[in-house]
Amino acid sequence: MKLAIVGAGPGDPELITMKGAKLLASADLVVYAGSLVNPELLRGLKAEVVDSSSLSLEETTEMMLDALKAGKEVVRLHSGDPSLYGAVLEQMAPLEEAGVEIEVVPGVSSLFATAAALKTQLTLKGVSESLIITRPAGRTLDEDEIAALSRHGSTMAIFLGVDRIGEIVSSLDMPPSTPTAVVYRASWPDQRIILGTIGDIAEKVKEAGIDRSAMILVGDVITRSGFRRSHLYRSRK
Ligand SMILES: C[S@@+](CC[C@H](N)C(=O)[O-])C[C@H]1O[C@@H](n2cnc3c(N)ncnc32)[C@H](O)[C@@H]1O
Repeated sequence: MKLAIVGAGPGDPELITMKGAKLLASADLVVYAGSLVNPELLRGLKAEVVDSSSLSLEETTEMMLDALKAGKEVVRLHSGDPSLYGAVLEQMAPLEEAGVEIEVVPGVSSLFATAAALKTQLTLKGVSESLIITRPAGRTLDEDEIAALSRHGSTMAIFLGVDRIGEIVSSLDMPPSTPTAVVYRASWPDQRIILGTIGDIAEKVKEAGIDRSAMILVGDVITRSGFRRSHLYRSRK
């Protein structure tokens, strides 16, 4: 019994890996993670296709295990890359206990689709060579590490937070002029980019009516300037 956990990519159906697409094409059951997975990826599959967003962990596990026991090929399809806010380990544990072998196929995270939309680098020599990936974890931001993390001055990518953007940006311990971008549905046809600063991004995002499916990116890398040439390329004599 072998389950493939596959990263679907950020939205654009051409951004799934070839390996992921092959596994989807041969699967008998595909359990996918709701609206962040592009339905284009599911069209025309021979598999039975199930949206897991209304199912409990136990129901999802049982359904996949029953199919695997019946000799079916099963794919669990996650948005972006499964390793980021995908809750995959809690799915793997009971299946592994039941003797299922797991293969994880990485995907293009929405973080990378966000960088591509902004045509910038997340790490940029002389600007920020580190990247902090985080999300608002607690019910109140007092329980979060976002303020402490912001003191590093590195590029910050904040998942799952656009509905609380006002609270988030006011907790950042950075100058109000720090460039900030919100990318809604990066790589989808209705992708939108809102550019601003820590000081004004919340208002702009509210005006744009964006309250889900968006990445908050904070840092000078957004300006695409002020960098030093890297040593990756030799300079011509
Ligand atoms: C449960 S997490 C899944 C992240 C996913 N594993 C990944 O690597 O992109 C969902 C959050 O990812 C971000 N997200 C997912 N797809 C997105 C997209 N196409 N554009 C911008 N942000 C996206 C949003 O912050 C959203 O709230």
